[in-house]
Amino acid sequence: MMAVELAHHRPQWKTHVGFLLAAIGSAIGLGNIWRFPYLCYKNGGGAFLIPYFIALVVVGIPLMILEIGLGHKMRGSAPACYATVHRRWEWVGWWQLLFVMFGIMLYYSVIISWCLNFFFFSFNLSWGEDTDAFFFSEFLMKSASPFQIGDIRTPILFGLAVVWFLSWFIVFLGVQKGLERANKFFMPLLFILVGILVFWSVRLEGAREGLVVYLRPDFNRLKDVGVWIDAFSQIFFTLSLAFGIMIAYASYLPRKSEIVRDSVAISLINCIFSVFVGFGVFAVLGYMANKTSQPVDQVVTKGIGLAFVAFPKAISLLPSFARIFGMLFFASLVVAGLSSGISIIEAFTSGIADKFHYSRGTIVSMLCIMGFVGSIIFTSQGGLYWVDIVDHFVNHYGLVLAGLLECIIIGWVYKTKKLRDHIDHASTTKISARWDYAIKVFIPIVLVLLLVNSVIEEFSTPYEGYPVLSLVLLGRDWLLICLFVAVLISMRSWKITPEDPL
Ligand code: ALA
Repeated sequence: MMAVELAHHRPQWKTHVGFLLAAIGSAIGLGNIWRFPYLCYKNGGGAFLIPYFIALVVVGIPLMILEIGLGHKMRGSAPACYATVHRRWEWVGWWQLLFVMFGIMLYYSVIISWCLNFFFFSFNLSWGEDTDAFFFSEFLMKSASPFQIGDIRTPILFGLAVVWFLSWFIVFLGVQKGLERANKFFMPLLFILVGILVFWSVRLEGAREGLVVYLRPDFNRLKDVGVWIDAFSQIFFTLSLAFGIMIAYASYLPRKSEIVRDSVAISLINCIFSVFVGFGVFAVLGYMANKTSQPVDQVVTKGIGLAFVAFPKAISLLPSFARIFGMLFFASLVVAGLSSGISIIEAFTSGIADKFHYSRGTIVSMLCIMGFVGSIIFTSQGGLYWVDIVDHFVNHYGLVLAGLLECIIIGWVYKTKKLRDHIDHASTTKISARWDYAIKVFIPIVLVLLLVNSVIEEFSTPYEGYPVLSLVLLGRDWLLICLFVAVLISMRSWKITPEDPL
C-alpha cells in the first residue's frame, strides 16, 4: 500500500469553531435558499420533507462521518486518501473534484452572479410587474434551445468576474487567513439576514396558507419515485457530500477532534437551516397567493426560477420596505453561495497541492482563471439550459455514483472497522458497528436503487423535454470527460512517496 505522506506542510484550522463555521459555510449555500425551496415546491411541499429527513439520517449523516473521519485519518485531500487506500482508486478522488470544480462550480458561480445582479435590481425593484418576462426575456434573454448559445449577457459576466475575484482572494489567503476568517464573518451575517427575513415573512398576511402547503404532507406524492430521487440527491448537494470538500476540510483538523459530534452538528444545522428558510419562502408565497387571489401551488412555475421570478414578484407586493427585503434576500444568497464556492475551490487546491506540490498561490490563481473562463458559457443566452442540464446530471449521477464508490472503497477495500477505530480513538463520542453495516451494505443498496431508477426515468422521459443530444453532450459526456481527465491525472506519479520523503 502506498502511503501518501502529506502531513509536513499541512495547513491547520486555528480554532475548532473556525472549522465548524467553514464546514457549515460549505454545506449551507444556494442549495438551501435557491434549490431546497423549489424542490419542496415541485415535490408537493411538506411531502418532500419526509424523504428529505430520511435521506439525511440514513445516508447524509453516516457519509458525513465517513468523509470527516477519512480526511482526519489520512490527512489528505480526496485523491490522496483514495490513493492511500490503493493507487488503483485514486481516480475516484480526481473525478469528484473535477466534476465539482468544472461542473458544479462553473454554473454555481453564475447563479451567484444572478443573485448579485438581483441584489442591485432590488434598489428600485427594476424587475417590474411581470417578473417572469423580466427574468427570462430581459435578464437572461433566454434562447429557444440549449444549442442556441446566442450572446454573452454582459451584466451576468460582470457579476461573474466579481464572484471569481472574491473567491480567488479568499482562497488565495489560505486556510486560516482566508477561509476561516471569511466564514467567521459570512456565517453570522447569513444567520442574521435569514433570521430577519423569516420573521418578517411569517407575519405577512396570508403567510399561514403558504405554511400549510409547506408543512402538510401529501402522502400520495411519496409514491412518486422522482420525489425520493430528488430528496436523496439534494442531501448530497446540500451537505457538500461526495464533493471532496469535507475530506479536505477535515484534513486540516488537529489530532484530537470530535469527528462524530461535528459531523452530526454540521448535517443537522444545515438541514434545519433549509427548513427554516422554507418557512420564509412559503410564507412569502402564501402572501402572494393571498394578494393575487390564487391558490398557493399555482402562484409560480415550479423550478429554477422560484427565487428569481416568484420572489421578486412577492417582494414588489410587500406593503413596506420592499426594497430592503429584496436586498436582504439576494445578499443572503450571495453570502451563502460564496461560502460554498470557496470550499469547492479549496478542495481542488488541496488535491493539486498534495500531488504536485505547486504553491497555493499558483494553484488558486490558475484554477480561478480557468473557472472564470469556463463559466462564461453559462452566462450566454442558452446558459439557463446548460445550468439546468449540468446540475441535473452532476447531482443525480455524479454525486450519487461518487458516494457509492466512497462506500465501496472504504467499506470493502479499506474496511470500515479500521476507520471506525480511528474515529473512536480521536473523539469522545463513539460510533457503533451499525455504521459499518450502513456504509458497506445499506447505503450502497439505496444508492444503486436510486441510480437504477434515475436511469429508467431518464430513458422514459428526457429531462425537462430537452433535446436528447443536449442531454447526452452536456450531461453524460460532461461527466465522462471529467472521468477521462481524472484517470489521466491519477496516472501521473506523486511528487512525494515514502521512498522519497521530504
Ligand atoms: N452545499 C452547497 C449548497 O448547498 C454546495 O449549495
